Parts: sequence; structure tokens; C-alpha cells
Amino acid sequence: MKLCFIGTGYVGLVSGACFADLGNDVVCVDKDLNKIENLKKGISPIYEPGLEELVKKNYRNGRLKFSTNLKDSVAISNIIFICVGTPTKKKSNATDLSQVYSVAKKIRSYITSKFKIIITKSTVPVTTGDEIEKILSKNKSKKLFSVVSNPEFLREGEAIRDFIYPDRIVIGTSDVKANKILKNLYSPLISKGAKYINTTRRASELIKYASNAFLATKITFINEIANLCEKTNINIEDISIGIGLDKRIGSRFLRPGPGYGGSCFPKDTKSIVKTADKFKINLSLVKSVIKSNQKRSLLLINKVNEIFRGKIKNKNICFLGVTFKANTDDMRESSSLVMIPSLVKKGAKINYYDPTGEKKNFKKIKNVTFSKDIKTALHKSDLVIIHTEWNDFKSINFKSLIKKKHFIIYDLRNIYSPLKMKKSKIKYFGIGR
Ligand code: UGA
Repeated sequence: MKLCFIGTGYVGLVSGACFADLGNDVVCVDKDLNKIENLKKGISPIYEPGLEELVKKNYRNGRLKFSTNLKDSVAISNIIFICVGTPTKKKSNATDLSQVYSVAKKIRSYITSKFKIIITKSTVPVTTGDEIEKILSKNKSKKLFSVVSNPEFLREGEAIRDFIYPDRIVIGTSDVKANKILKNLYSPLISKGAKYINTTRRASELIKYASNAFLATKITFINEIANLCEKTNINIEDISIGIGLDKRIGSRFLRPGPGYGGSCFPKDTKSIVKTADKFKINLSLVKSVIKSNQKRSLLLINKVNEIFRGKIKNKNICFLGVTFKANTDDMRESSSLVMIPSLVKKGAKINYYDPTGEKKNFKKIKNVTFSKDIKTALHKSDLVIIHTEWNDFKSINFKSLIKKKHFIIYDLRNIYSPLKMKKSKIKYFGIGR
């Protein structure tokens, strides 16, 4: 199959490289020349384990190409995946679809005599496919193209594995011909066990938002139960295991932490609420999830205040990890973006280490410094906040690295055993235990 991916962000680049690896001829298009030139040299614009190797391998064997020429790339392809950004609008919670519609308008004139499937892979609100179809229909016969929704369920940091072993592949189309072609495209993954479901286009668009809203709800639920556990001397892990073993609930996404962040859950929960508002439906549950998650960083800051009995001024606080999750360099909606400036305001001195390097987000903030390794970051700490669950942080000998007699650990990811910490005489706090 000849495939074209428009937009070389997470969704476009990972899917493009993986489809090339499955034997398809892929061209990834982006208007950013610099990005395209770097990709040709094998340099990925994002940090994602295994991605650079996959890009290099498939670029070398000629199955993966990079281009800024949208016209030629669309012309040679049978299937066009729209993978451009769908951020939240600046002044409202609605999704900014300008990039998606601009692509649709451009490719309209490039659909000539050969049948093409146009796929939205970016997360787009219900009815976006209908709008794209209207745009493309303006001067084209409907027989020349089919607009299909095929949402992506990749997680950052695990994107390649998630592509190869997806729980399900969702194809939103009522067009029998398009469905047959796409089932064939995905057959290598279906034969490995992925479930393939064909729904209407609108249902497929909503499946993506409902999935993310549900997962965000699950995380927020366990975070609130963790708050209760802290007051009642119960270990949240017992609760996660105890409820997770019920197959109707399931054990995944029940890890409490600093609240969900990243480029998807915060954006998509707001967007689904906005879509529902448009149809005069009140998604009150999702609305309270958003509120609860927004308040979470403040709750954690209050806990730090309690730990120091209100005396945060001049305390050295070390952050281990600042990204929203491990195995990514993504800072979007990370709780550290709220916690660090707020603790600085209270007079703390922050030193942080992140395996993906220094972050420009903190460069201009006074009293925030980056350390090149864990040892230097920990050195003078009064309090260590384990913010992100990188493997690098899972077996640190704190006593040998911190030069102070008394220091405290606040483990926002429950990496360490409270019992072992107690035995080592280290003052330790986790989440919900
Ligand atoms: C999420 C979904 O998991 C993917 O299926 C989806 O494709 C993607 O959004 C998207 O819409 O593109 P991602 O944002 O990469 O993927 O990361 P997750 O692993 O889902 O984590 C999201 C947030 O929830 C992180 O801040 C993480 O630390 C937090 N989390 C996750 C918890 O606090 N507890 C958990 O048990 C799981």
C-alpha cells in the first residue's frame, strides 16, 4: 500500500515508521523543512524509545520517505492520514481544528482520478469527518474519496509497542470498500491478536474521546481514594489490587500520582465536555474530573507545606523527573509546571534532574537549577520529590548520596517501600499510604 502521513508529530511519525516497517511505502509530509531535513538524517523531533532506529532502518531501505511536498505525496498515495495538531483553542476549551481543515482544503485539489481514503488519525471531535467530507465534496465526486475516522491509542514512551500490539483497531466508516482496504492494511496486526472493529465515523470519533475521558476518570478516582487512604492509614496499593482484580474494573490505570498530564487527557477531557455542551448534554462527571485533577498539584504543594510545618523558605528541594510521565521529554501539562514555581514562590530552592535534560520552562525562574546527574541533584537536599517514575530513580541509595543528616523523601509515584525506608531511618511519604 502507498501511504501518506501529513504531520510528523507523535501520531504521524510513529504510525508512518511502523507502517513502513510492516512493508508499506510511506511518505511522511510536514511543512517544517527543518524537521524533514533532520528526519532524513535520522534525527527524530521527539524522544520516543526505539523510534529513531525504526526511522533510520526504514529510511535506509527506501520504504519510508520524508517530504515537504504535499501535492506529490498525496498524488502517489492510496491512503492519506491526517495527523496534524488539534490543540485546545486559546480562549475556550474547544478544539482548534484549523490545521485539519487547512489540510483538507489543500488536498482537495490533489485528489484527481484515483480513489483515495482520507483518514483522520488526529483526535478530532464528533462531526469533524462530516465537515472534511463537505470540504472535499466541493469540487470532487464522492466516488473519488472516502473520509474515515481511525483514532490512535498510542501512549508516549510506549508508542511503538502500542502500535504493534494494540488492544483494538477502530475504523469509522460506512463505506464497505474503504473498510475492506483498511482491514487488509491492518491484517498483520489483526493476525497478532488485535481486535478490529468497524463503526460509523461519528462513533469512532467519540470512542477516542470517551476512552481518554474514562481513563482520566479512573486515575482521578484512585487519586481521590488515595487522599482518603492517607487519612485512614490504609495503603492505596491494597485498594488498587483489591478493586482491580474485579474484571469489570480492571487493574490498569489505578496508580495514584501527581494527577494526569500530557498532551492528551487534559485536552481531550475539555474537548468532550465542549462537544457535549454543543449538543446540550451536561457531562458533569467529566467536568468534576477536570476540576479535581487541576486541584491536585495544589493539594501536593499543601502536603509539602505540612511536611516542613510551614517553613519552606530556603529549603533545598530536589525534583527527580519533571516530565509528565517517564520515557518522554514531554512537559505538556506536567504537574511540575505548577509545583515548582509555586514552591519557589514560597521561598524554596529547587534543584532538578531529568533524564531528558534541562527544560526551557524553568530557565527563567529564579532559584531553579538543573543538575546533570542524580548525585549532584540530591547532594544538598532537605526534601526529595520523586515526580516521574523513570527506571533511573528506582534503586537510589539516598543515604550515600545526600550529605545531610536529616532529609525527607516525598515519593509521588510510590516507587519505594515505606517499610524499607523506615528500616533505613529515612523520613518518607508516598501517595495514599
Ligand atoms: C494517553 C492514552 O493512554 C493513549 O491511549 C492515547 O492514545 C493518548 O493519551 C492520546 O490520546 O494520544 P499518554 O498521554 O501518552 O496516552 O500517557 P498515559 O500513559 O495514558 O498517561 C497519561 C497521564 O496519566 C500521565 O500523567 C500519567 O502519569 C498518568 N497516569 C497514568 C497515572 O497517574 N496513573 C496511572 O495509573 C496511569
